[in-house]
Amino acid sequence: MKMIIAIIRPEKFEAVEDALAEKGCIAMTVTEVKGRGEQKGIKLQYRGSFVEVDLLHKIKMEIVVEDEMVDEVVETICRNARTGKFGDGRIFVVPVEKSVRIRTGEVVNGEN
Ligand SMILES: Nc1ncnc2c1ncn2[C@@H]1O[C@H](COP(=O)(O)OP(=O)(O)OP(=O)(O)O)[C@@H](O)[C@H]1O
Ligand SMILES: [Mg+2]
Repeated sequence: MKMIIAIIRPEKFEAVEDALAEKGCIAMTVTEVKGRGEQKGIKLQYRGSFVEVDLLHKIKMEIVVEDEMVDEVVETICRNARTGKFGDGRIFVVPVEKSVRIRTGEVVNGEN
C-alpha cells in the first residue's frame, strides 16, 4: 500500500476528484492547506504595487491505494491538475505499513 499525497490548485480539485471517481478511486482525505514551492510564493500586482505572498492556498489530497493503482492515480491527478504554469503542485508517494477499518477491525497489511 502507498499513500499518495497531492498538493494541487484549489480550482483544479473538482476536475481531479471527478476523474479519480471515474477510475473507481473514491476514498480520500482532503484538507485546505497553505504552502510554497521553489519560487517561495509569488509577487502579485495589487492596485499598482507588487505584494509578496509568502504562502499560497492549496488543496492537499491524501489517498491510500494498493501498489498496482499508484501509477494510474498519479497520472490521473497530473493530467487533471496541470495548467503548465508555476504552482501546479507536487505529488508525494509514501509507503503505508498498515490500515485498520475501525467498524470491522479488518486489518490490511502494507505488503498486500
Ligand atoms: N519540497 C516540498 N515539500 C513539501 N511541500 C511542497 C514541496 N514542494 C512543494 N510543496 C507543496 O506543493 C505546493 C505547490 O508547489 P509548486 O507547484 O509551486 O512546486 P514547485 O516545485 O515550485 O513547482 P513549479 O516550479 O511548477 O512551481 C506548495 O505550495 C507546497 O504546499
Ligand atoms: Mg512553485
